[in-house]
Amino acid sequence: MNRDNVLIDAKHLTKVFGYGLQKTTAVHDVNFQFHEGEIISIVGESGSGKTTLAKMIMGLLGETSGEIEYKGKPRKLRSHKDRKQYWKDIQAIFQDPFSSFNIFHKVDKLLTDCIKLQGLTLSKEQQFEKMKEACSFVNLKFEELYNKYPFELSGGQMQRLMIARIFMLHPKVLIADEPTSMVDACSRSTILDMLLKLRDENNMTIIFITHDVGLAYYVSDTIYIMEKGQFVEGGPAEDVILRPRHRYTRQLISDVPKIHEEWNLA
Ligand SMILES: Nc1ncnc2c1ncn2[C@@H]1O[C@H](COP(=O)(O)OP(=O)(O)OP(=O)(O)O)[C@@H](O)[C@H]1O
Ligand SMILES: [Mg+2]
Repeated sequence: MNRDNVLIDAKHLTKVFGYGLQKTTAVHDVNFQFHEGEIISIVGESGSGKTTLAKMIMGLLGETSGEIEYKGKPRKLRSHKDRKQYWKDIQAIFQDPFSSFNIFHKVDKLLTDCIKLQGLTLSKEQQFEKMKEACSFVNLKFEELYNKYPFELSGGQMQRLMIARIFMLHPKVLIADEPTSMVDACSRSTILDMLLKLRDENNMTIIFITHDVGLAYYVSDTIYIMEKGQFVEGGPAEDVILRPRHRYTRQLISDVPKIHEEWNLA
């Protein structure tokens, strides 16, 4: 990670849903700088505003106030062309991989669509090689899966397939919103290791969203703690987890017995 290369710079981001008595400030005056090749975790309880913030960064939700600069310029998402260009650079995987796919498409179609999305014209053999390479990156065997429908795969296999798509699309930024919450502990660590590999091999910036400080500590360079729509603490992962300053961070850490014992925190 290079701290001089700021990729996403957000200033005073705020998102308010509804009006009057129904008003919810889901994100409140959030500021950050994410760098190229950095893994950032956003940690907070349910309802703290993590997904809302992720959708704002993705450009799927407009901000009520504040602004985002991308690669040093104000982000513009007005035209279809602007959005298409931005979404080439920024991709997301979500908690439930099944919800992001057309369930009537087999695995090979899900992967060939990535090739089409990139506008590549490849021969059948070249496509096959590309899909095989992406599957082997996530320890899946293309030959065993290509003819299957999503419902014939396990949650862990499906999530790895999502990562295979990211490997093929190689965006500059990946937002992973609770990507491991629906898989078992073994698949969880495999998926985290794959995210680390994507960063190491492709210098991808990864925004990892979780309610689990232990996972955040394992993968990230930088951690932001989110409470009720605000970043209450942020900095290098070691500082935030081993020397937490904010009451809410301490509370989150004390809820994870393993970190508590291993690092002997007060
Ligand atoms: N489209 C919406 N309309 C109205 N309120 C919303 C909308 N989306 C989110 N909210 C509210 O904004 C707040 C933050 O929600 P958000 O989904 O961002 O939380 P989260 O941190 O992702 O939670 P979880 O860990 O459960 O996924 C919540 O109070 C939620 O009810
Ligand atoms: Mg969420």
